[in-house]
Amino acid sequence: MKLLIFGANSQLGRELIRLLDDAQVEFTALDPEDVDVLKPKDVMKAVSRINPTQLINVSTYSNLQKAEIDPDAAKMCDLINTEGVAALARVCNQLSIPMLHHSSSYVFDGQKKETYEEDDETNPQCSYGRSKWYGERTLREEADKHIILRTDWLFSGHRDNYFRALINSCKENAGKISVVDNRFSPTYAADAARVILGIINQVDCHAEVWGTYHYNALQPVNQDQFVLHVLEEAAELDKELETLMPALDIQLLPVESPYIRNSALNCGKIMSTFGIKQRSRGDGVTGVLEGIYGVKKAENESSTSVRAGLKKRTRTGKAASSKDAANGTDINPNATQKVKAKRKKTSPKKNPQQKQRAKKAATRK
Ligand SMILES: NC(=O)c1ccc[n+]([C@@H]2O[C@H](COP(=O)([O-])OP(=O)(O)OC[C@H]3O[C@@H](n4cnc5c(N)ncnc54)[C@H](OP(=O)(O)O)[C@@H]3O)[C@@H](O)[C@H]2O)c1
Repeated sequence: MKLLIFGANSQLGRELIRLLDDAQVEFTALDPEDVDVLKPKDVMKAVSRINPTQLINVSTYSNLQKAEIDPDAAKMCDLINTEGVAALARVCNQLSIPMLHHSSSYVFDGQKKETYEEDDETNPQCSYGRSKWYGERTLREEADKHIILRTDWLFSGHRDNYFRALINSCKENAGKISVVDNRFSPTYAADAARVILGIINQVDCHAEVWGTYHYNALQPVNQDQFVLHVLEEAAELDKELETLMPALDIQLLPVESPYIRNSALNCGKIMSTFGIKQRSRGDGVTGVLEGIYGVKKAENESSTSVRAGLKKRTRTGKAASSKDAANGTDINPNATQKVKAKRKKTSPKKNPQQKQRAKKAATRK
């Protein structure tokens, strides 16, 4: 097996590279300085020279907000996510190289109550979602041997670290956080990379598994539950944050473009085809927080007393634990009620400052 990866510096690309290194798989990973996917001749030259047995595309334009408000950004988003994919797909088809392309749950409109299945109707609601959908369509038209892997929101310790931004925002605003009132299944980028490795191993064994698949972490949650989980766990490592937890106030913003109400995906097909089970996101959250604070939680001496403090607050009802949800077990109904009690709906139109704060804190790619 010899892989060629486009999107070497993406958060997913970095996790994939780490995994491939560990697995001692031969690969070449390119970033835009090596080859710009918008230059088809360069793409052709690079792919022909490297001559991989499979190509993986995790390059993308991913700034949802900017693509929604800035026409130039929207154009770039469209180009990279559609024309870039087309350039890769044509070369792969010409050279008979299987191509795995990463797409997004934002090809859906978010109106479904349940998790989305692969053949559910697509109806993207924002520029980014449309560009990802056009990219998928182009790939289906241009290359026979392709796999499209859609995931929901990815988190990692790379690039714009959402957890760090969330923690900083919580501190700057004395425990007040605003998040979009959406339901999703945040997925550790390292787990998505593991799924890619599972798929490419099958393709390497000549499995005829072409088509579209979904993967995200177990147990969809509302964004406020996820944020609560991240902050509670961060507070175990951060004294300043811990003192803010009793005052934590998570306000819910209405779901507006570019976001959608529900982006969680059903993963039955990837399980039945590849035997790939969904993982919980709990270990990923812990891993990213350990990276931010530069500690291993088990080795952190102060964590025991901090954890005891959190338990005490849970008993008095001031900070319900959302970790059950994040770990993929059933949510304690009492805890859920307490989470709900902390949720307040708010209108960003009435309060632009809040909206700005929320954008900072709740920015999702
Ligand atoms: N992030 C999420 O929450 C999420 C959710 C669902 C699906 N996905 C999908 O998962 C995949 C990986 O996402 P990610 O968040 O890991 O990506 P990311 O961190 O935003 O990185 C995107 C990468 O694409 C590269 N790139 C941009 N324009 C390029 C061009 N013209 N030629 C070559 N490379 C170019 C960027 O280069 P630079 O390093 O120079 O910027 C960057 O390294 C994408 O397909 C994305 O749509 C992501």
